[in-house]
Amino acid sequence: MSSLPRRLLVTSALPYANGQIHIGHLVEYVQTDIWVRFQRMRGHEVHYVGADDTHGTPIMLRAEKEGITPKELIANVWKEHKRDFDDFLISFDNYYTTDSPENEKLSQSIYIKLCDAGLIEKRAIEQAYDPVKEMFLPDRFIKGECPKCGAKDQYGDSCEKCGATYSPVDLKNPYSVASGATPIKKVSDHYFFKLSDPRCESFLREWTQVKTPLQTEARNKMKEWVGEAGDSKLGDWDISRDAPYFGFEIPDAPGKYFYVWLDAPIGYYASFLNYCQQKGLNFEEWVKPNTTTEQYHFIGKDILYFHTLFWPATLHFAGYRTPTNVFAHGFLTVDGEKMSKSRGTLISAHSVIESGFNPEWFRYYFATKLNDSMEDLDLNLQDFVARVNSDLLGKYINIASRSAGFLVKRFAGVVSDEAMDHPLLTEIRGASEKIAALYEGREFAKALRSVMELADKVNAFVDENKPWEIAKDSEREADLQRVCSVTLEAFRALSLYLKPVLPKVAEGVETFLSLKPMHWEDINTPLSSQHPIQAYQHLMTRVEPTQIDSLLAANL
Ligand code: 2FM
Ligand code: ZN
Repeated sequence: MSSLPRRLLVTSALPYANGQIHIGHLVEYVQTDIWVRFQRMRGHEVHYVGADDTHGTPIMLRAEKEGITPKELIANVWKEHKRDFDDFLISFDNYYTTDSPENEKLSQSIYIKLCDAGLIEKRAIEQAYDPVKEMFLPDRFIKGECPKCGAKDQYGDSCEKCGATYSPVDLKNPYSVASGATPIKKVSDHYFFKLSDPRCESFLREWTQVKTPLQTEARNKMKEWVGEAGDSKLGDWDISRDAPYFGFEIPDAPGKYFYVWLDAPIGYYASFLNYCQQKGLNFEEWVKPNTTTEQYHFIGKDILYFHTLFWPATLHFAGYRTPTNVFAHGFLTVDGEKMSKSRGTLISAHSVIESGFNPEWFRYYFATKLNDSMEDLDLNLQDFVARVNSDLLGKYINIASRSAGFLVKRFAGVVSDEAMDHPLLTEIRGASEKIAALYEGREFAKALRSVMELADKVNAFVDENKPWEIAKDSEREADLQRVCSVTLEAFRALSLYLKPVLPKVAEGVETFLSLKPMHWEDINTPLSSQHPIQAYQHLMTRVEPTQIDSLLAANL
């Protein structure tokens, strides 16, 4: 191990329980999973938890439309999400739901602590109300004509036709998406988390600008909000919704529910608590202030405010530790454009599997695009095929097939121990800490580039030594064994470096080379004549370009 074992709690954003997992989501889960698997390989204690984000109006209305209860709906969706994550080898230690008893208790107790701290205020506000459905309407549930160009059926925030932005009250002839009725204005009491309180302002200024090593872009964005002392733009945060609402009731406030964004991040803790109870771990030790454990949230850049303002403030003023860091990534585009249903590029995770794709192709491709920034990343479908086939098959897997055959056929699978200190191997092993630092820093694209450069060197070594020629000369048996042993040991090392990205391939390699599950420090434990290798079994197949067409067709 590199240094003292660290203790890490890691999360990915909780997906809404009203839709399928698509490849845009997968970028984040793959990113987190690679990082988590890397940390496990380093010997650290890592707990990776997730859950479905189940509450709110859209889920309630969708269940109604489908003629089932919200609880039935979220149970069905949970199974699909879990299946998709398993398919893509996302190694959650616990995958739970925000609609859990643990989350209800935690959310209520956190709320009570915020009340006790004097940070919750009740205020009457006026809002759009659907008189037919008898419910308040979130902005997304009000449509009407654009105030600028008159286009019909536009949402309350912006016009898709002319691009104008406005607020729902500006819409002409507004109607409720839930019933078609004209919304009216109605007053009701809401509960607010007083982020404008000077204590919150100064805490958040310190937390976002000094204490937390946020990405520069994130820190700058937050600076706009927290400003300088006395000049904060933080408004109070409305954390309640009126019945009917699918969520948790607010204590001592009949008919009032927590807004989904209050209980969603608490769902990280609820999932972890549920896991701690199963595993006999001490939850308190992880969440108390001044704990030495670390807590990381991987998210998309669109939900930065929730994770770097609302969430740390909620935790801090309820007496918990705050996140060690929050890592935001950019959005996925496909062939340079926003994913779109009509082009078939809103690709569901399940369709990828159904179309016969190997999920590790996607894991690899995304990893070649990922870095520590919030820049968007592009899935270019042509490039995907070329990358996977040339890097994974042509450069990496090929190394095993080029060396294993001779070792098994001619040497009963026994490697030459003397070959293990060949300079090529010393060079490959020497890259270990550099590659580790790149994984640690979420610079996956760079890590993989380094690995592929090493793979190029191994292939050059094979080309120079031509084992297929040596094999023809019965006097050069020892040479043949040596060249193939160097090559195969190099393959083992590359497999170790790629294991966070390609865990299934790595498992196959471990079986094939008679190895125990590889940890990072095993880079210095070469193959040994004591453990003969098995016959080579195919570890991965090529992507056929025609598969892309079927995938796009499946998503139309
Ligand atoms: O934006 C979303 O998809 C939310 N469901 C993410 C929630 S993350 C966490 F805070 F729960
Ligand atoms: Zn318009």
